[in-house]
Amino acid sequence: MQEYRRLISMSELTSDGLFRGMLHQQPYLVTIVKGAVVVAMDRCPHADFPLSSARRDGDCVVCPMHNGVFDLTTGDSVGTRKFNPLCRVVSRVTDGYVEILVDPASSEPVRSATAIEA
Ligand code: FES
Repeated sequence: MQEYRRLISMSELTSDGLFRGMLHQQPYLVTIVKGAVVVAMDRCPHADFPLSSARRDGDCVVCPMHNGVFDLTTGDSVGTRKFNPLCRVVSRVTDGYVEILVDPASSEPVRSATAIEA
């Protein structure tokens, strides 16, 4: 059975910043888009650059390595060069903390296929 685990305190986040949360030695990108928390694996789908060290441009994250542009609301690659989508994970906010859904047996996160409403 899957369960939610704490990743990072909401008090560490700002509305347009990119943050890193750690769980089970795995880094996650955490950010807020359109008032909703978005969590993804903290590595670019192209060549693993840590996206928490990248740049926000509106609702997108821009990877400085090869200018990959990823829409944080959908995970899609939206730049001129196309890459695989971001690996977003299921998250929620409870008691002031961002939590992610994981499989307790493997500690693997559950991927999110849900887009954030505009
Ligand atoms: S590593 Fe991010 S675009 Fe290549």
